[in-house]
Amino acid sequence: MKEVKIESTLYVYNSLKELPESVQDLMSKAAEARNKAYAPYSKFNVGAALLLDNGEVVIGSNQENASYPSGLCAERTVIFYKGAKYPDAKILKMVITASSQINKTTSPIPPCGACRQVIVEYEINQKSPIEIYFMGETGKVVKSNSLKNLLPLVFDKSVL
Ligand code: THU
Repeated sequence: MKEVKIESTLYVYNSLKELPESVQDLMSKAAEARNKAYAPYSKFNVGAALLLDNGEVVIGSNQENASYPSGLCAERTVIFYKGAKYPDAKILKMVITASSQINKTTSPIPPCGACRQVIVEYEINQKSPIEIYFMGETGKVVKSNSLKNLLPLVFDKSVL
């Protein structure tokens, strides 16, 4: 038996103001998207924005459905949109912000497991890391230099 320790490095900022203006601008685009989320069931709005290497910004939000599992998270909405519209562009940054319609979300909201699995495939395909930033409506912001920090023991197409 061998014990294996897995380490990840994340950076926690006390507020968005500690980050460069380019990240603040991207986060405000994600917040606009968040406010347009279709989340009548969970009442939990999530917005995401991607900065691409062609200079374009794409945004997305969670889209729910009366048949609950048919809805989609903001992160997959935006990344599939990017894949459809700019298939050859690389993703430099992904920012995520979440807010509840019921109470104030002040803690950073990380992408769910299914979204991590989807994002990592784009990161592997583009052969360069995606910087991820996530936050609530206000408060601390968490940065990861690569999706891989959020998804150890990744399952990818190399094993198929
Ligand atoms: N949601 C996201 O958009 N991203 C996540 O990473 C976690 C959850 C959405 C899905 C659903 O519409 C609502 O938040 C509550 O789960």
